[in-house]
Amino acid sequence: MVAEVIQIKDIADHEGQEITVRGWVYNKTGKGRLQFILLRDGSGQAQCVAFKKEMAPAEFEIARSLTQESSVIITGVVRADERAPGFPGGYEIGIQTLELAQMAQEYPITPKDHGTEFLMNHRHLWVRSNRQWAILRIRATIIKAMRDWLDDQGFLLVDTPIITPAAGEETTTLFEVDYFGENAFLAQTGQLYNEANIMAFGKVYCFGPTFRAEKSKTRRHLIEFWMLEPEIAFCSLEELMDIEEGMICYLVSQVLEQRQQELAIIERDSDKLKAIAAPFARISYDDAVARLREAHGQIDDPVAKAEMAIEWGEDFGSPHETALAEMFDKPVFVYHYPTAVKAFYMTPVAGRPEVCRSVDLLAPEGYGEIIGGSERIHDEHLLATNIDKMGLGREAYQWYLDLRKFGTVPHAGFGIGIERTVAWICGLSHVRETIPYARLLNRKYP
Ligand code: 4AD
Ligand code: MG
Repeated sequence: MVAEVIQIKDIADHEGQEITVRGWVYNKTGKGRLQFILLRDGSGQAQCVAFKKEMAPAEFEIARSLTQESSVIITGVVRADERAPGFPGGYEIGIQTLELAQMAQEYPITPKDHGTEFLMNHRHLWVRSNRQWAILRIRATIIKAMRDWLDDQGFLLVDTPIITPAAGEETTTLFEVDYFGENAFLAQTGQLYNEANIMAFGKVYCFGPTFRAEKSKTRRHLIEFWMLEPEIAFCSLEELMDIEEGMICYLVSQVLEQRQQELAIIERDSDKLKAIAAPFARISYDDAVARLREAHGQIDDPVAKAEMAIEWGEDFGSPHETALAEMFDKPVFVYHYPTAVKAFYMTPVAGRPEVCRSVDLLAPEGYGEIIGGSERIHDEHLLATNIDKMGLGREAYQWYLDLRKFGTVPHAGFGIGIERTVAWICGLSHVRETIPYARLLNRKYP
């Protein structure tokens, strides 16, 4: 009888059974007649024990000479042993037969310390390491949790185009594409199309890659990043904050529930995550500036003091966002930013047009803005004026202006950056490890 092929994550369900696992050698120890092979199969890791007496001599010889990352198919019996390492651990496999897929050449990533540039150059191999494996699994859980939550709340996933005829955000960060002799751009956002789609479906979201030619080399910026953008018809800024809060709390709870093992691998302090519960504080930009100016007054160090300086009307830099977030142990909403520092589509506050109906969500622990959102201008003439001010020409926005002619409604939406969210949840110092293959100012390889 041929043994059942299992995934290592399910190993506990197979105690005492003869099974087959297929994977790669993460590590190998032991000497002489006894070899311990730490095998990873993508779903987990298990110790496989090669005992000379129990195997065909030729196969034991292969086991003894296996190199790091060699690929093998192993059949054996699962036994409980609480000392056995691995994920989930606590079980090992007594090898009966071993089939070699490939004896790997000398593997460039060894247990020693490699520099970040070296590891980023070998990202195609680095993704196999425990830490990277854990981070990318948490990323997948975060994305699934957000989508599940929205689907359950009656949102419809509606995909938006990547190649677009017009800017969605700041024109300075546009990537131009030659579209058969005409100019087009890679999408900075799916939002404008979401606004069309809500008039057909009520509540929608898009999820996909977005592109910003940001000339900044920071630990928060990628050139290509993934954004999930919900948009809701008949929605106010306050209702929008409720939605953001609900979604964030759900995704944190799902990571805590499903990814304990991964959080342990990356040594994330999960108490910080357990504290994330509604409600989150909601403060105005005015209030935020007042708090920052007060904090500024108490700083002695001249460099830190200069960084923390702020005048009303200026956008926040990351030191400001970090300082604000430190005043709270949960994410904090900052609403009503100055109109001049925000996008052309945001509704001015009634009676106070110098500020707009925008809201950013700042993550704790110094992670800064993870969500940007707003109420959208639903008045055709005001929107047309703002588009003119951008100097891009109205033709490309004709369809967007149409939305304000045929049953326009107050509406709002937001975009959450996946990588900044993953960096926060995982407690990482840089976004480059939160995405499988980072595109940075100085990196498009591999
Ligand atoms: O604040 P942003 O630019 O908002 C928009 O694009 C809106 N159209 C969203 C909407 O209302 N539908 O970007 C939203 C989020 C930011 O809060 C941040 O998390 C992330 O996208 N983001 C980036 N992440 C990594 N690298 C970059 N260069 C990013 N730019 C924005
Ligand atoms: Mg923003």
